[in-house]
Amino acid sequence: MRLFVDTAVLDEIREIHQWGIISGVTTNPTLLARAAATNVKDVIVQICDLVQGPVSMEVVSTDAEGMIREAREYASWHKHVVVKIPMTEDGLIATRQLAQEGIKVNMTLIFNANQALFAALAGAYFVSPFIGRIDDISWEGMTLIREIAEIFRNDPNITTQILAASIRHPRHITEAAKAGAHIATCPPAVLRKALQHPLTDRGLERFLADWRKLQETGK
Ligand code: E4P
Repeated sequence: MRLFVDTAVLDEIREIHQWGIISGVTTNPTLLARAAATNVKDVIVQICDLVQGPVSMEVVSTDAEGMIREAREYASWHKHVVVKIPMTEDGLIATRQLAQEGIKVNMTLIFNANQALFAALAGAYFVSPFIGRIDDISWEGMTLIREIAEIFRNDPNITTQILAASIRHPRHITEAAKAGAHIATCPPAVLRKALQHPLTDRGLERFLADWRKLQETGK
């Protein structure tokens, strides 16, 4: 499973990109607002140049015509832009059209397996099931990833990738990988937590202390 970072804050992306573990970025209107990205085009282009992998930029139109117009504009910004389209009837119409034009679509706000199947059949490049928001309403988000993975596996014509979104904690990353997600998009804070372990810290402290002792004995 690959990892994307789920933020529009350029400094955070720059920092985590250095770790060598992320191959894409997802944004949404909330994340762009949180990053105070007033010049959205500039931010998205900078992220694309840095990451050199898929960067999701979401439409805000709700009619197919508007979505298509926005998507063509965003796709013209950079070859790595993937356009996020919400799972609605108009979203499916727009996805079909954009897929035919060769514009990659990340179909977002996926909360059941049929929505994921419809998105795939319409030509979506990614589907984004929102694990955390399902957990929030006392359902099991990871069950959805498992179901979608099984459905996609059963149809060799489906090449759509499962992008597990709304990741809230490190365990979600592990479970998404086991459940068959192709990618998990994670907030920077979750990635930071996921790389830590108290035994790693304690082990390192001990190695360094023993090394210091050895240096002192050798004097
Ligand atoms: C990314 O593609 C999604 O928009 C994002 O992961 C949603 O996360 P949230 O449910 O924490 O807002």
